[in-house]
Amino acid sequence: MVQIAIMGYGVVGSGVAEVIQTHKKSLKSHSKNIIDIKYILDLRDFPDSPFADRFTKSFEDIVNDSEVQIVVEAMGGLNPAYDFVRRCLQAGKSVVTSNKELIAEKGADLLNVALENNVNLLFEASVGGGIPILRPLNQCLAANNFLEIAGILNGTTNYILTKMINDNIPFDTALKQAQELGYAERNPDCDVKGYDTCRKICILSSLAYGEHIYPKNVYCEGIEKISLTDVKYADMYGGVIKLIGRTRRLGNGMLDITVCPMIIKKEHLLASVNDVFNAILVKGDSTGDVIFYGRGAGKLPTASAVVADVIDCVKHIHARKYLYWEDSDNKNIIPYEYSMSRMYFRIKCENINFALNKATDLLGGITLIGTDEEELAFTMDKELPLKDITKAENIMLDSNIEICSVIKLADF
Ligand code: HSE
Repeated sequence: MVQIAIMGYGVVGSGVAEVIQTHKKSLKSHSKNIIDIKYILDLRDFPDSPFADRFTKSFEDIVNDSEVQIVVEAMGGLNPAYDFVRRCLQAGKSVVTSNKELIAEKGADLLNVALENNVNLLFEASVGGGIPILRPLNQCLAANNFLEIAGILNGTTNYILTKMINDNIPFDTALKQAQELGYAERNPDCDVKGYDTCRKICILSSLAYGEHIYPKNVYCEGIEKISLTDVKYADMYGGVIKLIGRTRRLGNGMLDITVCPMIIKKEHLLASVNDVFNAILVKGDSTGDVIFYGRGAGKLPTASAVVADVIDCVKHIHARKYLYWEDSDNKNIIPYEYSMSRMYFRIKCENINFALNKATDLLGGITLIGTDEEELAFTMDKELPLKDITKAENIMLDSNIEICSVIKLADF
């Protein structure tokens, strides 16, 4: 028998306990062992829970109990999760976590502590919810150089965008639904402003390139400025708007990593990924495109990934799985101003012909999508570095052209 502890009994922690209880038989057959929950750590009381006798409010009970060999961290956030996970690893316990913030901010340090203590730190559920992506990237696709990884990595924002686009449901109502379904972060700004996507693309990039990528060094823009007018013009262009986390290796070896809304042509597979679903496109130099698709958030999909990691830890109780990246100063990420982009623009001007000519001159060619009274929507014909696009925007503003929105056009 292997005894485990679960820290945090929220959406994910309670899902993990439920899956372990309801799938006892298959877990035993997959892990060749019985997995027993000895403790659940939470400051709240759950007298009606089927696990009522396992609750503790003291982390010390867990870290000091030598019978506990695996600890699931499902508390979220950095504090106290970072300290607790570090101490569990130092105490010789393997740790499984779904905490994206923890791995995106402290992954290099914690992987090092796991290595020093000859235990495992697994975090499949931190990216893509129930979708297997980290293990395939680290194992099945390990023979590739990764040219690009791009994905819809946040279920909440994809749910909101889908409801806005397909059902004309206002932003706030869609967000509330996502919260009720257990998809959204405690602070929904993390979803809406792109921070959650940013953490996930950082984890994917760290794993793909072997160096820790810190969220603070990645350009991050959310969906809060997306309007139904832009959705309409995107549709006329033949595309849909999605929040995309993307990393690509440039010819000079530098990394171009961004999180921002993008307009994706409807024919592309990522365009049809709706609701809470996530999808991740991986371009390997040997495989070409590989796409991973599934439920990116929610109690049971996330618990499925956590429990699979627990099984892996049980199978490797006396061995280490190779999952590691080095710390890095991130000097290998190009500044956002140098990232090459082609944009969709929506602008307003009393003299629409003047605006059209000005934009054509400044951006080196544009294609009109549509006009509406004083409004003009168009796409750039060629890619430019962001710094040149910003310069063009400033000149337009100085020429009494109002810039309503600028959204990147996907080139994958
Ligand atoms: N808030 C996250 C999302 C949860 O919506 O994708 C899963 O990481």
